[in-house]
Amino acid sequence: MRRVRESGHTYGGLMVSTWDLLRADGRNWPDRGFYRDLIARFGTPALDIGCATGRLLLDFLAEGLAVDGVDSSAEMLDLCRRKAEERGLRPALYQQRMESLDLPRKYRTILVPSSSFQLVTQPEAAEAAMRRLHDHLEPRGALVMPFMVVTETEPTDWRLTAERTRPDDGALVRRWSRRWTDVEQQLQHSWDRFEIVVEGNVVDSEEHSRSPGLRWYTQSQALELYARAGFAEIEIFRPSSRRAQEMRSSASSASDEVLIVRGSGSEH
Ligand SMILES: C[S@@+](CC[C@H](N)C(=O)[O-])C[C@H]1O[C@@H](n2cnc3c(N)ncnc32)[C@H](O)[C@@H]1O
Repeated sequence: MRRVRESGHTYGGLMVSTWDLLRADGRNWPDRGFYRDLIARFGTPALDIGCATGRLLLDFLAEGLAVDGVDSSAEMLDLCRRKAEERGLRPALYQQRMESLDLPRKYRTILVPSSSFQLVTQPEAAEAAMRRLHDHLEPRGALVMPFMVVTETEPTDWRLTAERTRPDDGALVRRWSRRWTDVEQQLQHSWDRFEIVVEGNVVDSEEHSRSPGLRWYTQSQALELYARAGFAEIEIFRPSSRRAQEMRSSASSASDEVLIVRGSGSEH
């Protein structure tokens, strides 16, 4: 059965239930050490925005770091909670959108890993998200976000982007993707199709449309956004740094660049 979802930015359905399976190598991504170092430098409590099923959050908690999680998807958070329970962890998880973030405490370090800030594609919403992030920082706290620059601008046809066997029932899980990039508007539109294949037959299929799915920023645009939200100090880790190079090699497309910007909250 084929279902089509205009998923916008709420991740759900097969996209969520196959998330960990199709990102099986996610536990070894080199960004973990990078973020751990930054939490050590700026301190806890820390907040993982767009924590999804807890790839980073659960390991940090298991190491004894005080890290809360936020995600807009209830389905992602349900999975995260279930995985936390299995590991005897009790994270504070909030289903909220970063553009209207409203949490009971402030943080020394806020992470927005995997360029998830760029999923907020409307300029006004991005400005609002930046302000909400700023206002949730302790004085002198740090916001850490990678910015991905889209360099692969040719439209792509459907192509197989992931394929794995589901251990529970032996079904083959496939993801097909296509992208279209509006260079002038700096927006990427994306479509993903998930298929569950049993004995050669597609028994379930879902198409997710995110149009637009991602906005990218030049470095100066990103810096302006930080400045307008009131960030006082900005530190840039360029792709030439060792960590950024490592992260770049783990990015979804080899031609993507990862730009990491750090802003410190001013005294308030
Ligand atoms: C690319 S995934 C990142 C997953 C995880 N941070 C990682 O690095 O493995 C993006 C996550 O951000 C969440 N998300 C998307 N838009 C959001 C928003 N406006 N506010 C909060 N979370 C959002 C999605 O539900 C999804 O779980």
